[in-house]
Amino acid sequence: MTTLTTQVAIIGGGPSGLLLSQLLNKSGVETVILERSTRDHVLSRIRAGILEWGTVELLRAAGVDARMDREGIPHDGCYLTDDELMVHIDFKELTGKQVMVYGQTEVTADLYNAQDAMGTTVLHGVSDVSIHDLDQSKSRVEFTHEGERKVLECLYVAGCDGFHGVSRKTIPEETRREFERVYPFGWLGILSETPPVNDELIYSNSKHGFALASMRNENLVRYYVQVPLSDKVEDWSDQRFWDEFSRRIPSEAANRLITGPSIEKSIAPLRSFVSEPLRWGNLFLVGDSAHIVPPTGAKGLNLAASDVFYLHSALTEAVTGKGTGGIDDYSSKALARIWKAMRFSWQMTTMLHRFDGEDAFAEQMRKATLDHLAHSETARRDLAENYIGLPF
Ligand code: FAD
Ligand code: DHB
Repeated sequence: MTTLTTQVAIIGGGPSGLLLSQLLNKSGVETVILERSTRDHVLSRIRAGILEWGTVELLRAAGVDARMDREGIPHDGCYLTDDELMVHIDFKELTGKQVMVYGQTEVTADLYNAQDAMGTTVLHGVSDVSIHDLDQSKSRVEFTHEGERKVLECLYVAGCDGFHGVSRKTIPEETRREFERVYPFGWLGILSETPPVNDELIYSNSKHGFALASMRNENLVRYYVQVPLSDKVEDWSDQRFWDEFSRRIPSEAANRLITGPSIEKSIAPLRSFVSEPLRWGNLFLVGDSAHIVPPTGAKGLNLAASDVFYLHSALTEAVTGKGTGGIDDYSSKALARIWKAMRFSWQMTTMLHRFDGEDAFAEQMRKATLDHLAHSETARRDLAENYIGLPF
């Protein structure tokens, strides 16, 4: 069996794995990334679009800020609506901070380029990954690559392989504690090369269900509508999407809406999920391998970044002989922030979506929450503080 060695084996070449690897490499720690898919496939997945300022600063520390600064769009606020009522949340005024509109696809492409420049080994198309000897001073990751069974020897393993990866499942079931909430609807999202309907995002609560008007740049929009879980992408022609989207946003915005053909269309289910602990011996879970949030509030990618923030300094200390206090604290420190983002995403989801079969009371609670936001600066500040991202 071919044997490779490294200090930190990283399973998964999505944003978590790439950012962790890039920061470790910059601190002089050696890594190898094992990714199941091709690079093209990873880069074709349309996902998150909003970066918290802490994520922006972490990307700067990683040295991947040049294109983000040229092409990203800082946003000072967003709107939440209740039918025709538009509540403005002014992040800049309420918190002094902004968020950045810059797609996950772009972040991932920048990180792949930076890793190439570092000369990091990234193996694509790996399969049958298994993780061993996590209680030994040297651990092993076995995998198949280019038809050959290989082993990667390492000091630590970072499980950055998403919700369906192998890392979380390597932790014995009796050790794991899992928490889950599945929501009874999904988001149908489209990309279209049209100008944004509004200069800031609109999270729209309407009697027809939720809609979100987001963007990637001045001629590329990302719009979503809440749909039943039973719906298929094929059920949604572009025309049906535009009709539904425009009746869910306030008419003031709908009157400005410019429509066009979709260039991507997909449906994502909504789920809250946490698996504790994030550490098992020499294995550390990062990002979606350990937790999933519903997309309302744009926390998924940003939570992956805060996990990376805690773990990269902890692993650097451990690998360079400066102590194991950081890796010992990683799980509890990261989980404290994860649970607060869970709460925010769940609250935003509950506040903005219609639940099938809900009673009139639930509708009144949504309306009262939005009315309270419209009239209380304290409530808006609380929302803004969570949206721009709690401190690491
Ligand atoms: P992933 O991006 O899932 O990356 C994991 C990587 O590991 C993948 O490249 C995968 O191929 C690889 N992998 C899996 N198993 C193995 C294995 N056994 N061996 C080797 N490699 C493996 N967040 C938001 O904030 N806003 C959004 O709008 C939004 N939309 C989303 C839409 C969808 C459909 C999904 C799935 C997620 C969305 N998210 C969104 C969440 C956000 O994209 C994730 O939080 C983010 O991708 C997490 O990054 P990650 O690197 O931890 O995991
Ligand atoms: C986007 C997705 C989100 O979940 C969100 O809250 C804001 C923006 C987006 O894809 O642009």
